[in-house]
Amino acid sequence: MNPIDIIIKKRDGNVLSKEEIEFFIDRFYKKEIRDYQMSAWLMASFIRGLSKEEVKHFISAILRTGKILEWDFQVIDKHSTGGVGDKLSLIVVPLLASLGFKVAKLSGRGLGHTGGTIDKLEAIPGFKTNISLKKFKKIVERIGCSIISQTEELVPVEKDIYSLRDVTGTVDSIPLIASSILSKKIAGGAKTIIFDVKVGSGAFMKDIKDAKELTSWLIEIGNSFGKEVKAVISDMEQPLGFAVGNLLEVIEAIETLKGKGPRDLEELAIEVVGTLTSKDLAGESLKNGDAFKKFTEMVDAQGGNITELTPLASVYKFSIQESGYIERLDAYLIGEAVRVLGAGRYKKEDTIDPNVGIVLKKKIGDFVETGEIILEIYYNSENKLKDSIELIKKAISLNKNEVKRRPLIYSVYS
Ligand code: URA
Repeated sequence: MNPIDIIIKKRDGNVLSKEEIEFFIDRFYKKEIRDYQMSAWLMASFIRGLSKEEVKHFISAILRTGKILEWDFQVIDKHSTGGVGDKLSLIVVPLLASLGFKVAKLSGRGLGHTGGTIDKLEAIPGFKTNISLKKFKKIVERIGCSIISQTEELVPVEKDIYSLRDVTGTVDSIPLIASSILSKKIAGGAKTIIFDVKVGSGAFMKDIKDAKELTSWLIEIGNSFGKEVKAVISDMEQPLGFAVGNLLEVIEAIETLKGKGPRDLEELAIEVVGTLTSKDLAGESLKNGDAFKKFTEMVDAQGGNITELTPLASVYKFSIQESGYIERLDAYLIGEAVRVLGAGRYKKEDTIDPNVGIVLKKKIGDFVETGEIILEIYYNSENKLKDSIELIKKAISLNKNEVKRRPLIYSVYS
């Protein structure tokens, strides 16, 4: 076998065998196949597609490069395909634990305009996300939940493949996204995986047809690896909740865990937890403080301190000289507006500012008077503020006629 024949075979639209895919991934992992060859293969796979069988072989090959976590009890993992203002994991993980489930979540950092759970957790002073797998397991066993960053020990080659996809225009392919997500989730060893598949301007999937297609791939392939897979498809045309930006999102998540969060965030948290258990119990746990208590136990166990969570930033109040109903609050552009403030990265090595971000005062369907505040911008640099405002202006449009509120949940697979 040689790598060039495998690239040509895929370039010409043929189906690769298990042996060919394993050979290609193994050799790439050993650095015998170069980045440019993997990039060519990824582009061929992006254009020609991969069958579900090929994706299963691709996942198995990725899993062979690392270890798979083993648990003495059944654990649950929750994964979002990525969005803006999406702090749902900070709520759902302790909420599930407060209802008696064991939740072990391996999370990532922000990607492009989307935020990442690890960056959010690291906005909490002292919170450690890179603890050992041994300690991770102990915390899950003792408290019921823990969230840590993806480790090199699990699927090391996936990170290298993802980095190449990020810079070769090969991210938004359903087979490649399904392989990337499922390989990481399967390596985490959870028996049950709940997916929150996002759809809209701020998501990888821009329309509902693609979101449904990705969901069916995640379910079918996840099942073939012996996983129980649940899923919710939810809206990402506008940000989730009001806060976008790491510390601001932690604060909003805590409010939600205390039963005082934005309606959409609470509704989605309950719907996601409802794929496994009673929605009434989930709502109760947010109201009676149980979910918040679990969150504080997890924060304590991972060295964090939430007594003093105040964003250190100046605040700019954004308004426009026009009145009407909000018709567009483009999640992608808002995500970019928050990234330019310093909440996200452009290069891997960029450091992020946990204090900056945006707090929306209005959502799609709300009426704004001329000059009324639509959102607040938390910033630490005048230049970045200027760039952010330019993006925000493009993100918002008003309509004189009444505008319907957007649906939040499109489909539930429980
Ligand atoms: N999230 C991932 O982990 N991988 C993808 O390919 C896309 C989103």
